[in-house]
Amino acid sequence: MNSNVSKYVKDITAIEKMRAAGQKAARVLEMIEPYVKIGVSTDQLNTLCHDFIVDELKCTPAPLNYRGFPKSICTSLNQVVCHGIPNEKLLKDGDILNIDITVIHDGYHGDTSKMFLIGEKVPILARRLCKVAQEALYLGISMVKPGQDLKKIGQAIESYAEKNNYSSVREYCGHGIGTEFHEENFQVLHYDSPSIPSTILEPGLTFTIEPMINAGTKKVRLLQDKWTVVTKDRKPSAQWEHTILVTDQGAEILTLRSEEKI
Ligand code: MF3
Ligand code: CO
Ligand code: CO
Repeated sequence: MNSNVSKYVKDITAIEKMRAAGQKAARVLEMIEPYVKIGVSTDQLNTLCHDFIVDELKCTPAPLNYRGFPKSICTSLNQVVCHGIPNEKLLKDGDILNIDITVIHDGYHGDTSKMFLIGEKVPILARRLCKVAQEALYLGISMVKPGQDLKKIGQAIESYAEKNNYSSVREYCGHGIGTEFHEENFQVLHYDSPSIPSTILEPGLTFTIEPMINAGTKKVRLLQDKWTVVTKDRKPSAQWEHTILVTDQGAEILTLRSEEKI
């Protein structure tokens, strides 16, 4: 089986806009870092990001009102896998938090997330989980090049998670991205299955890789709010996300932060 994504290849004008959007999304994660501390609420972080995106970057926060999502960023705490809704609860010593930022700039989307360790008391398992999840993302990115089959990338990410005695979530995936937040027929799965079609990469494609790695079971549950996804066993989960461009040589990370050395 084959899934053809040629129709999503971007021209140089679109690629320039994707670069700009990606850089702006990365700047939000850099801006918010000093505020992500014990005693702050995720709602306060949402407001800080919203105002920065709108007032400083002159962008639109893509999550706000997206399919009814009520806030401008996603904040996923501890056992929350993804799509956590910012709220009044205060961060405490030992928490792990994913902040997921998507901005629209000049009609194009930049989408990126990272884990934050709160305080000094984050358990060693949770620290290691965050590290392994980031390594899984970097492993996936390192495999991106023209001619590569996306299937192989998903396979490598899952087997890296499992080698570390973790699991890779199946219900949510990376996605083609451009003028659309989630390109409909362009999914980036973070696992392997015989039923997954081959998707051969070409220069000019832009997509996210965003593995969600669980400490325990890969199984998830959706909470009553219809957004918040949690692990079924309530053990912690970690996610990192970048927006990637396929180049003639390999990959360009459009949402690279200055702290990252790859
Ligand atoms: N940023 C998420 C992703 O990586 C999507 C969030 S959708 C929202 O694809 F509505 F929850 F914001
Ligand atoms: Co995404
Ligand atoms: Co995202």
